[in-house]
Amino acid sequence: MYSNKIEGPRRGRSFDSMNIAFEEKLLNNEINKSTFNKIDEKTEKSNAPEKGGATVIFSLKNEVGGLVKALKLFQENHVNLVHIESRKSKRRNSEFEIFVDCDSNHEQLNEIIQLLRKHVNIVDMEPPDNSCLLEEGDIDSVPWFPKKISDLDNCANRVLMYGSDLDADHPGFKDNVYRNRRKYFADLAMSHKHTDPIPRVEFTEEEVQTWGVVYRELNKLYPTHACREYLKNLPLLAKHCDCREDNIPQLEDVSRFLKERTGFTIRPVAGYLSPRDFLAGLAYRVFHCTQYVRHSSDPLYTPEPDTCHELLGHVPLLAEPSFAQFSQEIGLASLGASDDSVQKLSTCYFFTVEFGLCKQEGRLRAYGAGLLSSISELKHALSGNASIKPFDPRVTCKQECMITTFQDVYFVSDSFEEAKVKMREFAKTMRRPFTIRYNPYTQSVDVLKDTPSINSVVEELRHELDIVGDALNRLNRHLGI
Ligand SMILES: [Fe+2]
Repeated sequence: MYSNKIEGPRRGRSFDSMNIAFEEKLLNNEINKSTFNKIDEKTEKSNAPEKGGATVIFSLKNEVGGLVKALKLFQENHVNLVHIESRKSKRRNSEFEIFVDCDSNHEQLNEIIQLLRKHVNIVDMEPPDNSCLLEEGDIDSVPWFPKKISDLDNCANRVLMYGSDLDADHPGFKDNVYRNRRKYFADLAMSHKHTDPIPRVEFTEEEVQTWGVVYRELNKLYPTHACREYLKNLPLLAKHCDCREDNIPQLEDVSRFLKERTGFTIRPVAGYLSPRDFLAGLAYRVFHCTQYVRHSSDPLYTPEPDTCHELLGHVPLLAEPSFAQFSQEIGLASLGASDDSVQKLSTCYFFTVEFGLCKQEGRLRAYGAGLLSSISELKHALSGNASIKPFDPRVTCKQECMITTFQDVYFVSDSFEEAKVKMREFAKTMRRPFTIRYNPYTQSVDVLKDTPSINSVVEELRHELDIVGDALNRLNRHLGI
């Protein structure tokens, strides 16, 4: 449950010139830029930590008072706003995105971000030029992250939208029966706890028919468009989870199937999670999945991920060990990382797990779930007309994620192994005052930040190498070497 909920506009990108409209909004809300300039005059600079230019991009609904409430947080924290722009959100038609350049030190920015998060969705941010949000060695300053799999109970319900709360342009907005159904699925997910079995759902005839159309049309394309790992695993989904044109698999069955194949499990989710919370699940090989079905009025379109996207797009590849490892490594890199690093990781996730291409036997094939669950974009990506670039996290992390249109560019990898190595190297360049190691025995993470914690890993590695040495000796004896 993620594909359509990551957006990554970057500093200096194409915020439309809407300053005039924005000024009008400011005036209507009885607030203006000079207010913010005056704030700086009142700020005692002599004792304050050195400031630098920071950027925050956040989105808010187009409603009276929301912008003022958000901007007042800057005022109350004595932060001078240098430049403000707005644009219509590409993610949600009913929202605006506000781009704010300000002078702040990283303590002030941290505080504002925490306060802003209570009212708006932070889309992107860059810390002051002269500082970083995570100081080396300052482990107490890192954002909270789950240390064990059951900690996901604390963040899996922090959804950005809930139940029947649909946008006005959603196909099911005026359908009260559909909205009630969405509320039902949302309530199921919100009451879920780690170790609970996922409730089995009796899908309606209408939902099964909608699923059937998606299933039938996509299956026509898979033999010529999907990567070989997908084609290998899709029949297993039919065999073990009763995935058929006339039957929507139960998430509980899918979760058990994945657990046996790669250790991944499914966790139902009520709506959009933030990139940080979603990626945290991947660190524990937990995939947050929606259980509702898209609206029946247009089976081949959905403005958000639904169970058709999760089951037909994601699940077959989550059953592939190399892909599962790749996904988990992105998740592990995100734990305790700065907001800027999480945004870069989520953009890489978007252009691989959601919209990734690979080359097999000299031909382009899709492995991204956003492609494998979208007939039109799957055809487009492999049509020969799409722009294709080699996957390089340093480049990919700067690419804008398109939510309501086809991607401007797709990134191709030779293999999941190659993509994993590149992501691993990229993750090493990110600021984080510790290294994370996953402990599969306890489904927890070890934070490697001092000599004792590193020594314990060395001991385990010695034991593992001992096993390898013993195996080689036995093989040599068997072969008479
Ligand atoms: Fe997805």
